[in-house]
Amino acid sequence: MKKDLYILGIETSCDETAVAIIKNGTEIVANVVASQIESHKRFGGVVPEIASRHHVEQMTITLEEALSQSKVTLDDIDAITVTEGPGLVGALLVGVNAAKALAFASGKPLVGVHHIAGHIYANRLIKEMEFPLLSLVVSGGHTELVLMEEHGSFKVIGETRDDAAGEAYDKVARTLNLPYPGGPHIDRLAHEGQPTIDLPRAWLEEGSYDFSFSGLKSAVINTLHNAEQKGKQIEPENLAASFQESVIDVLVTKTVKAAKQYKVKQVLVAGGVAANKGLRARLEQEFEGILDIELIIPPLALCTDNAAMIAAAGTVLYEKGKRSDLSMNANPGLDLEMQ
Ligand code: KG4
Ligand code: ZN
Repeated sequence: MKKDLYILGIETSCDETAVAIIKNGTEIVANVVASQIESHKRFGGVVPEIASRHHVEQMTITLEEALSQSKVTLDDIDAITVTEGPGLVGALLVGVNAAKALAFASGKPLVGVHHIAGHIYANRLIKEMEFPLLSLVVSGGHTELVLMEEHGSFKVIGETRDDAAGEAYDKVARTLNLPYPGGPHIDRLAHEGQPTIDLPRAWLEEGSYDFSFSGLKSAVINTLHNAEQKGKQIEPENLAASFQESVIDVLVTKTVKAAKQYKVKQVLVAGGVAANKGLRARLEQEFEGILDIELIIPPLALCTDNAAMIAAAGTVLYEKGKRSDLSMNANPGLDLEMQ
């Protein structure tokens, strides 16, 4: 009988300190996330120095908690996997050094993982992957369409040329004086309003799967300022609904088109913005009519940053023979296609 494979994952690329253990690539046995959102809220965004400091404080506590939840010991773990990049360098360094120390002390293999590979692999904790597949990655730092022909192979067929979708959500939320992170607040407001305000959609050149959200963000800000100057009242609910509709129109149209062009079997949604209720509903509605493509969207807790997704992607890389050594460094510019 094949021995069970236990992989430990560590994630500290932004504002969550997370440790998870997963079994055979698909089963979560522990998943601990210590969020710092409360500490960053009053600054309206993540403050890198504060993030690093919190990661240092939380790292060992989170690790101990994950091991105690899982009821396995470090001896049972087959490999230590960790987010190597992209992300905030000081934040990444805490996880990378913890993983290296753990690997060195235990003699276990070390595997560096790309953060976005993790977001995509959160889907494997829900459903086995079938190739070719397309993943729509929408997070605070990334908006990408990623084509996968097999495990561990990533081809970026479209990406944002300026702001990421989540970044646009957070900036628009800030203009509306909503707390950080703004995405969930805009999502909630959007459901209370109507898309009555005409906002642009950046389709870009014919055939391009790239995205651009900075023009839309500026249009929202201009709409608010113009109204203010004229002493007119704009309902924030309607502005949120109009902004959300514009983002979703572009994301969903390009995803459906690419899914058909590349004849994929599955479409996976990944990243924090995948928690968006409007986006989830629209994708479900569009793909319902396309019978040979299966749409998978992870539950909310697996959409935002966590370490189970890092361990899931790490399992595949480990099985493919990837090993990192103790010279591994945090790499804020790590390339998804090269790992
Ligand atoms: O993937 P993630 O947790 O962190 C990064 O790797 O960036 O994504 C965080 C982003 C934030 O910009 C947040 O505002 C956005 O995801 N977000 C949402 C929603 N929930 C989180 N955006 C829109 N609607 C939501 N419901
Ligand atoms: Zn993320």
